[in-house]
Amino acid sequence: MKNPIDLADKLALFSEHWSPKVVARLNDYEIKLVKIKGEFVWHDHADTDELFLVLEGRLTIQLRDPGERSVTLGPGQLYVVPRGVEHRPVAEGDVAAMLIEPAGTVNTGATGGDLTAAYDDSLIDPAGGDG
Ligand code: NI
Repeated sequence: MKNPIDLADKLALFSEHWSPKVVARLNDYEIKLVKIKGEFVWHDHADTDELFLVLEGRLTIQLRDPGERSVTLGPGQLYVVPRGVEHRPVAEGDVAAMLIEPAGTVNTGATGGDLTAAYDDSLIDPAGGDG
C-alpha cells in the first residue's frame, strides 16, 4: 500500500445500506465501510468479535447479552460486540460506519435472509488511495 485511503472519498462511491465494502486488509482482517439506516436483523457471529466505529450519524447497537443493553455511538466512538452475542444495529437517520472483523465475516452471521450482503471488495485499491 503506497497511498492513504480517504474514507470520505470511499463513502462517496456508494449509497446502498447494509452492504459492507472492504477498503483495506491487515493480516487476516478486513476494514469495511458500511452505510446504515433503519433496523437490521438480530444475528450473532459465533467465531468472532465485531468492531463498529461510527464515522457519521448515530448508531444504536441492541444487544441480547445478560444485561439486554443497547449501546449508542456517535462519530468517533467505537464498540466491540463480543463473539456469540446477538446484536442488531438500528439507526433512525443515515449512519456511516467502519467495521473491523476477520475476512469472510458475513454481515447477518448465521441468521441469513434478504439483508445478507454479497462480499464486495470492489472499492479496494492495491495502491491504497487513488493510485
Ligand atoms: Ni454483526
